[in-house]
Amino acid sequence: MIVGLGTGSTVYFTLLRLGERIREEGLAVRGVATSVDTEGKAATFGIPLLTLSEVETIDLTIDGADEIDAEFQMIKGGGGALLREKVVASVSRREIIVVDDSKVVERLGLAFLLPVEVVPFARGTVARRLAELGAQPAVRVVSASETYRTDNGNEILDCRFPEGIVDARGLQAKLQGIPGVVENGLFIDLAHAVVVGHPDGVVEVRERAADG
Ligand code: A5P
Repeated sequence: MIVGLGTGSTVYFTLLRLGERIREEGLAVRGVATSVDTEGKAATFGIPLLTLSEVETIDLTIDGADEIDAEFQMIKGGGGALLREKVVASVSRREIIVVDDSKVVERLGLAFLLPVEVVPFARGTVARRLAELGAQPAVRVVSASETYRTDNGNEILDCRFPEGIVDARGLQAKLQGIPGVVENGLFIDLAHAVVVGHPDGVVEVRERAADG
């Protein structure tokens, strides 16, 4: 089985457990990592990896999210891995999202900023175009003197939407139409199921409706 390995502090536990099951049960699994960070953790936990170029499709991907709504539309990219996560999701037969219940929202973008990955050359131009769409973009930094760079060498503009994101599908289309935008953190129609963990230990599994 080819398994897409998401990125983030939630997926950490998936990687840990997957590594245990490979060791203890001899699961025949090979992973495709969505970030350099996950590549390192997979190596630590003994999960054999393939590159994305070596596979045509992925059987199952397990990833986290920053926000997810009732239609399973999501904001991702808080950890900066949105581009590789979206490519991997797009070739996955099934995408399972694991979140705690604080990330299940009625409207995207009210609590979390939308990450937009941009080519550094175009940052200023893209920021102006984003403002025309009602966003308040700010470049992600690691310190006062250092701009954050993704695994792909790009920058991220984290976008505040004061009223939240009303039409996620429409916004994603507009964002992808801006030259210089590499990818955006809106994941539309990519999740098939969501696993929600509650503080009392209850775990809820929701499947996307067949026509959803
Ligand atoms: C990585 O860029 C993100 O898309 C993560 O999947 C998302 O931010 C969830 O991360 P945590 O599990 O760390 O909250």
